[in-house]
Amino acid sequence: MDHARDSFSFNGQRILVTGASSGLGRACAVFLSGLGARLVLSGRDERKLEATRLSLVGSGHVTSVFDLTRLEDISAWIAGLTADGPLSGLVHSAGVAKTLPVKATDAATFRQVMSVNTESAFALARAFRQKKSFLAPASIVFIASIAGIVGYAGLSAYSASKAAIIGMARSLAMEFARDGIRVNCVSPGFVMTEMTRAEQSFLTPQQVAALEADYPLGFGEPEDVASAVSFLLSASGKWITGSNLVIDGGASTLR
Ligand SMILES: NC(=O)c1ccc[n+]([C@@H]2O[C@H](COP(=O)([O-])OP(=O)(O)OC[C@H]3O[C@@H](n4cnc5c(N)ncnc54)[C@H](OP(=O)(O)O)[C@@H]3O)[C@@H](O)[C@H]2O)c1
Repeated sequence: MDHARDSFSFNGQRILVTGASSGLGRACAVFLSGLGARLVLSGRDERKLEATRLSLVGSGHVTSVFDLTRLEDISAWIAGLTADGPLSGLVHSAGVAKTLPVKATDAATFRQVMSVNTESAFALARAFRQKKSFLAPASIVFIASIAGIVGYAGLSAYSASKAAIIGMARSLAMEFARDGIRVNCVSPGFVMTEMTRAEQSFLTPQQVAALEADYPLGFGEPEDVASAVSFLLSASGKWITGSNLVIDGGASTLR
């Protein structure tokens, strides 16, 4: 029984969560703190990061403001963060969604989505693996999306960014296994957060109802994603790497 409980416990392990100022990242941080992790919370908005920090269980949590479009600086940033102690886990939840028809998606928009969602994921994984930055056994979880495996009109750039993360995680998993670092993705369906609230504001109530009808179990909650992320980060997931766990109330199966 103790073994079962211990395999879900983080017992002071340091975990970096990007996108921790909002939505799924904030929910992951809160959930992980309840399991004993010490969090490094990252995002761009200091005030919102501090609000997350104040909502965590336990002590020793810190915030670090960083804009992930500064791809060239990610390595030095992670080296600086880990000077105080190595990381056992990374949750990359920072991301942007742009619902735009193809004709309104210019090259700069496409690149911006790829930069925040995907290129930063690669740079973070690369930096995490630097000597002294991680403590094995370690685990990385990228928040992808069912848009990476199912088509949605208006989401071409976003879908590309998420499909790329899913493919990248498989190869990173192969390359990092020898270092004792597992790499996995979760692919959530629709969960109400600031991101989806903004997207939903463009829809009529009828369109929202039609979207929800695609979800046999209804829309998800941030904690549904946080618990799956925690499982993949924890010792309970120690034989899982290169996977993509779909968390979508059955939406992608229905399609
Ligand atoms: N909600 C859903 O239904 C859903 C479904 C599938 C996948 N996802 C994915 O889940 C992840 C989290 O989404 P969410 O719903 O929690 O969205 P959210 O509430 O809008 O949060 C997005 C987070 O990303 C951070 N971020 C954005 N651009 C950044 C940048 N350039 N540098 C650093 N941080 C940046 C934001 O930080 P600041 O606010 O501090 O700038 C914020 O913390 C995203 O990758 C999203 O694609 C969400």
